Amino acid sequence: MEDKYLVLVNSSNTLKDESVYEKVDCNSPYADNRKLEKETFEAFLKLKEFIKEKGYTIEVESGYRSSEYQQKVWDECVKKKGLEYTKKYVAAPGYSEHQTGLAVDFVLYENEKYFEEHKMKGHPVLKLVADNAYKYGFIIRYPEGKESITGYSYEPWHLRYIKNVDIAKYIKDNNICLEEYLN
Ligand code: DAL
Ligand code: ZN
Repeated sequence: MEDKYLVLVNSSNTLKDESVYEKVDCNSPYADNRKLEKETFEAFLKLKEFIKEKGYTIEVESGYRSSEYQQKVWDECVKKKGLEYTKKYVAAPGYSEHQTGLAVDFVLYENEKYFEEHKMKGHPVLKLVADNAYKYGFIIRYPEGKESITGYSYEPWHLRYIKNVDIAKYIKDNNICLEEYLN
């Protein structure tokens, strides 16, 4: 049986059955109604604890998204940033791995403010997460330099839980993306 934590969801692979992923509430202070796949959330809490020990607070900005919700994300992005930008950063409904619940966009909380996505640019927390996420079974799903393979721009905030720490370390150490590993 295929390992459900190694599922490939991208612009040419849709998610066949989202019911295999049990979802739980994240109680994220950033925003209500955030859910993640159960083990993904447990792993995120451990990563969050590690990052906290280094002096930074991260929270769940976005986790599980239904296909309908992804449509909303898409539409709002098109409205705010235009179609070209949207295609680089947002998956079409049905083709987002956020629909598994295994993807987490994190947000930095500092000085009583949240810093999302590009607003974290250059912040040391990004390197800290990139260097250590594998220990908790996460990979940076859309790495810099892999845009032509993943189909998306560099997203240092988008973590993908794959569970297997050895594979996550292999992907990081060899500077490859999930598509390259699975092929
Ligand atoms: N930001 C990623 C590509 C998504 O929308 O699933
Ligand atoms: Zn994301």
